[in-house]
Amino acid sequence: MNWIPVGNLEDIPQQGSRVISTSKGEIALFRTLEDEIFAIDNRCPHKGGPLSQGIVHGKRVTCPLHNWVISLASGEALAPDTGCTHRHEVRQNHGVLFLAVDAPSSKE
Ligand code: FES
Repeated sequence: MNWIPVGNLEDIPQQGSRVISTSKGEIALFRTLEDEIFAIDNRCPHKGGPLSQGIVHGKRVTCPLHNWVISLASGEALAPDTGCTHRHEVRQNHGVLFLAVDAPSSKE
């Protein structure tokens, strides 16, 4: 697992998000009102809606397309909906955010 720097906590407004483009697609970083940071794929498990454009409330985000509510901590849709979007490890160190990415699978 590699940890890559992806900016500063202050780059993301509280209850807002920021999108990181990776080789595996877009990852959305969310900042809660309590300054917790979560990272999940920027794709709703329903029909792929852009979760980064949703409303953050508590540790959840509501998808802008059809209002599914997704847990930021687990990536899972809240009942009665079912489904899960991939979550990623993220941590902060002195205000700098680091995202965990898988080591390259191919060997040279
Ligand atoms: S695409 Fe997110 S609720 Fe439908």
